Amino acid sequence: MLKIEILTLFAETFDGFVSASMVARAQNCSALELGFTDIRDFSGSRQRRVDDYPYGGFAGMVMQAEPIHQALNSVLSRGPAPVIYFSPQGRPLTQDILEHYSKQERLILLCGHYKDIDQRVRDLDVSDEISIGDYVLSGGELAAMVFIDGVARLLPGVLSDIDSARTDSFSKGKLGFPCYSRPESFLEQKVPELLTTGNHRKILGWAEAQAELLTRSRRPDLLPKRG
Ligand code: ADE
Repeated sequence: MLKIEILTLFAETFDGFVSASMVARAQNCSALELGFTDIRDFSGSRQRRVDDYPYGGFAGMVMQAEPIHQALNSVLSRGPAPVIYFSPQGRPLTQDILEHYSKQERLILLCGHYKDIDQRVRDLDVSDEISIGDYVLSGGELAAMVFIDGVARLLPGVLSDIDSARTDSFSKGKLGFPCYSRPESFLEQKVPELLTTGNHRKILGWAEAQAELLTRSRRPDLLPKRG
């Protein structure tokens, strides 16, 4: 069982996400438990304020260190866990990172908002910083959902056919191969004949070759450098 604690100012953005598809299934089969902490509950001010102007006169607002630090302490007092902060400055999320975290017992996900969080929380409390791509979102919530979805489907017992995780894109450092389902002919486009023969050895060879071709044309950066 993996328990994920999410620290956010906008827990409601997770509403549809937690009750649908793979993440719902992971919770239903007790592979995953999600908990939410509202960082605003740890604001020292009567207005429940958690942001302030940045030192240096820069534009935008910064999430203050104190409420985040207190919120983290509160969750960490129930047991240790890595603290993952989502930001465009983090290391790029990969399948290997998802696999690593899917094997943990407990994770804390910190979602920032506004311009950024105070650097001192990063230095003191954050153990890993992750980006989901080279673009800027208005908060870490969507990145956290991407991360949770990617982790949930790797938890034991969640995917009905574990092979479908093993043949995913990136699971062997390559993109996935093309998939076909019924009907055999669609708008005069035929399923590759080999796939209908039942010759598993040849079919696996075809899948490997297709994955290699696709990776070579679209993502050559994933393949080992030659010579
Ligand atoms: N927060 C804002 N932009 C982000 C990104 N690209 N990845 C992760 N978290 C973010």
